[in-house]
Amino acid sequence: MDLIIAKDYLDLSRRACRIIASEIKKKPDLVLGLATGSTPLGTYQELVRLYREEGLDFSQVVTFNLDEYYGLSKDNPQSYHYYMYENFFKHVNVKPENIHIPDGTATDVEAVCRKYDEEIARYGGIDLQLLGIGNNGHIGFNEPGDELLTVTHMTELTDDTIRANSRFFNSIDEVPRKAITMGLGTIMQAKKIVLLASGKNKAGIMAELLDENAVSTKNPASFLLLHKDVTVIVDEEAASLLKK
Ligand code: GLP
Repeated sequence: MDLIIAKDYLDLSRRACRIIASEIKKKPDLVLGLATGSTPLGTYQELVRLYREEGLDFSQVVTFNLDEYYGLSKDNPQSYHYYMYENFFKHVNVKPENIHIPDGTATDVEAVCRKYDEEIARYGGIDLQLLGIGNNGHIGFNEPGDELLTVTHMTELTDDTIRANSRFFNSIDEVPRKAITMGLGTIMQAKKIVLLASGKNKAGIMAELLDENAVSTKNPASFLLLHKDVTVIVDEEAASLLKK
């Protein structure tokens, strides 16, 4: 695992953007796994800037998002569909047919999940996966528990996550209790992973992840310790409790 300690959030976002841009330049039809939440927003802004100012070309890039709330339609401002279009897709030249996000309104969830994994496999797997991390160590919506599923699946959100994510909703009651998420297997099969963590509230989980050298389903992100090519970018606040 490579650890980069960025000065601040802007520096973190620029570094993440540079890694993504350099992979796109090496492989214009990059299969890019994308994350939501507040952490990658700056990275998307930087990528949009590179598209506008330097012509970074997304025309052949294929994207797969990690997750979507269950029960939210694409036009719901709290859905990850909406987030991705507002913050990234509508500002760059990614082709709509190359964008994949789990359908939160699916009735046959099992079929939608199987199709999602098949599509990822059809493109040869994810080349570069961008990740955030929950305060409880979740990646995508793979929540801590007794077991972690490998494939795309429906999951119940933990109280921790519902509370943490309620900041994006009018009230905690509006936060969906379920979500569709890529599984740990798909994430771990990504050829390259970039994990971002910013701010003091991520310092505890980052210390647990980086100092303990242990893998546990109680901290889903800990499985990344087993991956060959992970770059962790933290800002100074998120690094503030690291011992090493
Ligand atoms: C959500 C997403 C995760 C994300 C996490 C952290 O729950 N499903 O993919 O990493 O939030 O969010 P933030 O970056 O806002 O702290």
